[in-house]
Amino acid sequence: MGSEGRFPPPASLTRPPPIPHPPSQQTKSWPVRPVDRAIRWLKSTPGARVIADLGCGDAQISRTRSLADRTTHNFDLCQNEHGNVTVCNIADIPLPDASVDACVFCLSLMGTDYGTFLEEAARILRTGGHLWIAEVTSRAVQQAFNVVPDLVAAIEALGFTCTSPSKKVAEGSYFFELVFVKRGERKATDDGRAVAFPKLRACAYKKR
Ligand SMILES: C[S@@+](CC[C@H](N)C(=O)[O-])C[C@H]1O[C@@H](n2cnc3c(N)ncnc32)[C@H](O)[C@@H]1O
Repeated sequence: MGSEGRFPPPASLTRPPPIPHPPSQQTKSWPVRPVDRAIRWLKSTPGARVIADLGCGDAQISRTRSLADRTTHNFDLCQNEHGNVTVCNIADIPLPDASVDACVFCLSLMGTDYGTFLEEAARILRTGGHLWIAEVTSRAVQQAFNVVPDLVAAIEALGFTCTSPSKKVAEGSYFFELVFVKRGERKATDDGRAVAFPKLRACAYKKR
């Protein structure tokens, strides 16, 4: 008989420890943190009663007192030190269709498959629900490279309308924000093609 099963595996093998999220560390030096902008936006959106924080990190939204009357579901690949995260891939969110009023992606469209995260957000949002996104500017805009219009078009093709006051990224900004409302279910395109999401650049980490 082999040694398998004789001893329980060490906890460190069964339960991965929370890992730090380097980009969040980087945002500490920014004049405004995107998550604070998300919180401000949620406060000004009273219809956002049930919130999905997708790629929540330390789940700051759910720990904000002034949003305590809302229900916030936290999802991330990693558990955090507060133990209040549903650990999953946000390409496959354990919530029913049309079950939330607002989805937040705060610096969390990280994978090359980020389009699948947005498709999941479209599935779990009710019609009339809101989608709020913040991303690092350099991932989408650098000199002549600007994929923000393509990103907006791809998200609109999922059944959303962009309601951001400006779709332009302010010069010198660390991050950009986009807001959408879900106008209905995605219309099947004539030829059934998948939505084409533009490639976002990887984050450049800097020691500050
Ligand atoms: C830069 S951190 C932002 C955390 C938080 N939203 C904030 O603004 O403080 C990005 C987070 O997205 C999570 N994330 C990235 N891809 C993910 C995926 N496919 N499924 C679940 N979480 C993901 C990471 O684990 C990380 O916690």
